[in-house]
Amino acid sequence: MPALVLLGAQWGDEGKGKATDLLGGSVDYVVRYQGGNNAGHTVVVGDQKYALHLLPSGILSPDCVPVIGNGVVVDPSVLLSELSGLNERGVDTSKLLISGNAHIITPYNVTVDKVGERFLGKRKIGTTGRGIGPTYADKINRTGIRVQDLYDESILKQKVEAALEQKNQLLTKVFNRRAIEAEQIVEQLLEHGENIKSYVADTTLILNDALDEDKVVLFEGGQGTLLDVDHGTYPFVTSSNPTAGGACTGTGVGPTKISRVIGILKAYTTRVGAGPFPTELFDDDGEALRTIGGERGVTTGRDRRCGWFDAPIARYATRVNGLTDFFLTKLDVLTGWEQIPVCVAYEIDGKRVEELPYNQTDFHHAKPVYEMLPGWSEDITKAKTFEDLPKNAQGYVKALEEMSGAPISAIGVGPGRDETIEINSFI
Ligand code: IMP
Repeated sequence: MPALVLLGAQWGDEGKGKATDLLGGSVDYVVRYQGGNNAGHTVVVGDQKYALHLLPSGILSPDCVPVIGNGVVVDPSVLLSELSGLNERGVDTSKLLISGNAHIITPYNVTVDKVGERFLGKRKIGTTGRGIGPTYADKINRTGIRVQDLYDESILKQKVEAALEQKNQLLTKVFNRRAIEAEQIVEQLLEHGENIKSYVADTTLILNDALDEDKVVLFEGGQGTLLDVDHGTYPFVTSSNPTAGGACTGTGVGPTKISRVIGILKAYTTRVGAGPFPTELFDDDGEALRTIGGERGVTTGRDRRCGWFDAPIARYATRVNGLTDFFLTKLDVLTGWEQIPVCVAYEIDGKRVEELPYNQTDFHHAKPVYEMLPGWSEDITKAKTFEDLPKNAQGYVKALEEMSGAPISAIGVGPGRDETIEINSFI
């Protein structure tokens, strides 16, 4: 049963798009299982660069069926504009499948996200402002709107009215905003429903059937392990489960069907938004990583916070996801440093701690304990095999592998599709 999960091992933006796309040619289905248009995948195909937010990156592989699973939250207007943008560039999007059980990001969810963040002031999460959290909150509160509701006008009307009864109280009385009219929202949603109707399907049945027929299914996580609402740096997290278990709940495929869990691991660390980040750099090295690595958010355009590699985070990702492999990305960005610091443990209140502390306050106090690894100056972007890498780059990869607890099976040495060293095949 060749079902693979591919997910971010750090705080997202590890370069998953490239990894998914690399596998895309040999994969029959690429499935997103959580998140929404808060994700940002940059995929380079030939001289074309594509920025995807909601669509699975498999949409760029002609033989692959891209799937939006039930665990995803869908903003239909964003979906439609992403689809038409791709169509204009000649990409065929007709194979896309969307779960009828996925939840809809409504305009009022977006409003509540934006106004809510402003209301939090200094305590803000730094969300992408796309309505992700409020939509998941509605899902758990059982006041959400699902894709299938767009095809039953009377049910849709009742649900939107019920949701707005509460939301309008909040908007007008707490946030001092204007109330939102149900009628307008319903009209808009019905129209969107018509426009996406041809994609809506029972994706759980389709995916399980595909696996029974030995088709290759790739589950593509958005965000990353430390942004997981259960296993991440709560409350500075997204509102879904990017970790491996989310692939099951977010698609309706059981855990016994998953054969491989691949963690995408950047050769250094980045995060966007607020929250603790022990190896964060505020000096020229941080600026250099940001500039050389192009560390600016695909979705928000915000500068990413940058820091050195953090081994306890990688070990944690191995543990909570049951990782079988790592895909190490952006090794080329580290070319040119004489010595590269790697965080091997933390010092918390005077004590050395080897693993990521479960206690959030401890993590806020964690100071990195660094080990210096020798750097390299040779251009590595043309390397095709591990042996092509300079000795010190090989040493860096080997050291990271030993510290991280799972084999590094592929290494990204440049942004292009073919700038990857494959050590062990994923399929
Ligand atoms: P939300 O997902 O918009 O609710 O934002 C919650 C947190 O997750 C914020 O810190 C965001 O910056 C972060 N976040 C959401 N999506 C991504 C992503 O794709 N990459 C990195 N960070 C993300």
